[in-house]
Amino acid sequence: MPVLTNIAQLYTVPPDGGADCVEPIADAALAWQDGRITWVGPEAELPGEFQDEPHHDAGSRIVIPGLIDCHTHLCFGGWRGDEFAARLAGASYQDILAAGGGINSTVTATRAASAEELAMKAATVLSDMARLGVTTVEAKSGYGLNTAAELKQLEVYRQLNQTQPLDIIPTFLGAHLVPVEYRERRADYINLLCEEMIPAVAEQQLARFCDVFIEESAFTLDEGRRILECAKRHGLGLKIHADQLSSGGGAGLAAELGAVSAEHLEYASQADIAAMAQAGTVAVSLPLASMYLKEPFLPARPWIDAGARVAVATDFNPGSAPSYHLHLAMTLACVHQQMTPAEVLRGATSHAARAIDLHHDRGSLLPGYLADFTVIDAPDINHWLYHFRPNACCFTVKSGQIIWPTSAAEALVSCCS
Ligand code: NIG
Ligand code: FE
Repeated sequence: MPVLTNIAQLYTVPPDGGADCVEPIADAALAWQDGRITWVGPEAELPGEFQDEPHHDAGSRIVIPGLIDCHTHLCFGGWRGDEFAARLAGASYQDILAAGGGINSTVTATRAASAEELAMKAATVLSDMARLGVTTVEAKSGYGLNTAAELKQLEVYRQLNQTQPLDIIPTFLGAHLVPVEYRERRADYINLLCEEMIPAVAEQQLARFCDVFIEESAFTLDEGRRILECAKRHGLGLKIHADQLSSGGGAGLAAELGAVSAEHLEYASQADIAAMAQAGTVAVSLPLASMYLKEPFLPARPWIDAGARVAVATDFNPGSAPSYHLHLAMTLACVHQQMTPAEVLRGATSHAARAIDLHHDRGSLLPGYLADFTVIDAPDINHWLYHFRPNACCFTVKSGQIIWPTSAAEALVSCCS
């Protein structure tokens, strides 16, 4: 039963509690067995039975729950650096999409890529994420937009779950955009989603959630309702890309349908904020997308004041958020979303776990929870989130196993060297 000692502060981040409840324990110790936490508390109170167990030394650093990136578009073909340059020169995200670029160009590249190519590319990202302290990643399809290519993306996630250590929680996002070939007959695409794709995804258990992009350029509120009600009948949990670029009522629909989360939300109305808080639907903020699109950041205070849980994720994708640096997203959430470091830590751990309906299993450091944690080279979370550096993560442990660093060579480049 391994034991980690010499922890300056261990943040337990219990699943319930106020917005900034992270419950730090000073001079802490942590024990685990068979991938689950068995004991956590002040080192001075470590029970005698643990004294002779193998000890690891945290070096007087902090320990937090393994980070959870609860919103990514992990699997895609190609990149879109040309669009980045065009946006900097004045073109809007919507202009580029209307001209056939944007999501459409990634759909073309993703359809053309083999599952092996897509898996290799995503595996590189996951390995970098592990170095940053991430242990669980929600990952969406949505760049296939036909049955075969959507299933291909989800099968990549299934394969990656078997071949690398991070947990991938798959979400079906066939309703990301109406594909070009269905533009003049969008009702047919919605029928395809409801009659073929969702049943296939559910039957093959390829996704836990179904997401819909509700936006003027994507799906209407009524279309979203039909797709999500169909997904619910097939046993999938619900998520919505809502109110990202305009106020479209997606947040209210998420609350009405009992969605586990709604994401972006920069333009959500006050009434819909209250509805989501009341329904317990997690508000997933995506500050990297706001930064890259030069859109307003989510003002988190009205959400937190209304009693909503605000998670923080990267939205990693080749268009609006081409970065998977969750630490950067967290620092941006402090600076631009008016969240405290404690609220942001909750946002990327326990609240993020709730956004994928796994808050009783991970996102907190309590007995019975997964032994997913990370050792951060900082004296406390204020220092960690203020002193942004390429990587402050010394060790990442997933289900009780060290996944970063894994070799003497990696240890040399980790910040603990
Ligand atoms: O979450 N908003 C829609 N989807 C993604 C962007 C996808 C892309 O640009 O490729 C997002 O921002
Ligand atoms: Fe997204």
